[in-house]
Amino acid sequence: MDEHLRDEFNEWARAGRGEGMEKGHRPVGEQAIERMHLPSTARVLDVGCGSGWATRLIAEKAHEGNVMGIDIADEMVQLAAESSSSFENVEFKVATAEELPFSDDEFTHAFSMESLYYYSNMIAALREIRRVLVDGGTFVTVIDLYLENAPSHQWIPTLKVPVHLLGIPDYRLMFEENGFVNVVDERLYDPKPIPADYSGGSFATRDDYVLYKKNGSLMLTAEVRK
Ligand SMILES: C[S@@+](CC[C@H](N)C(=O)[O-])C[C@H]1O[C@@H](n2cnc3c(N)ncnc32)[C@H](O)[C@@H]1O
Repeated sequence: MDEHLRDEFNEWARAGRGEGMEKGHRPVGEQAIERMHLPSTARVLDVGCGSGWATRLIAEKAHEGNVMGIDIADEMVQLAAESSSSFENVEFKVATAEELPFSDDEFTHAFSMESLYYYSNMIAALREIRRVLVDGGTFVTVIDLYLENAPSHQWIPTLKVPVHLLGIPDYRLMFEENGFVNVVDERLYDPKPIPADYSGGSFATRDDYVLYKKNGSLMLTAEVRK
């Protein structure tokens, strides 16, 4: 367990950034989840679930199945569990993506929003995700910080934890080399308008923000072959 990551994201949970991430990620996350075409009986794993907003959204689609959210930060998991008490088909666990506490073939789908590039060992995490998915299962991940989206790079020095900065071909290759097939990369776009008087926040300038949104979020879809 990477304690530094855990402590940093616990800090985020205490600072209310779990809810903040829902605001920031949801417009694109909803589109990604829509494109998963989840059957009502799906068994889904949400890797790096944060406050659990996507886990709950998935649970509404998989209403005859079940959804498991995992996160390395116990305070995020606590927040997610408290916000999900009305859902009967949702569960959360503190776990690291590199060592998933599940049996082989337990899930039909896996989802991960803005989480993969934080993992100290992304390859181990991918192998674990593949292991817990059934043959023919699908993994969908959304990534905002990637090589082809230059304005996103300015986040790196502001983050208190190390991240991986990979390009789209690197991601595709990593998936293909670790047992995934039919890897598809797409871009998703946040329709929220940028205020005319934007004066900083996640980006140094409004122009950076405009370009970031024009580049879009990277969505990768991959199937498991066993
Ligand atoms: C930027 S947040 C995104 C949270 C959520 N998916 C969302 O969209 O709101 C990244 C999350 O990944 C979790 N995380 C980072 N490294 C992890 C790891 N190795 N295993 C599991 N979760 C991890 C963090 O604790 C954090 O909650």
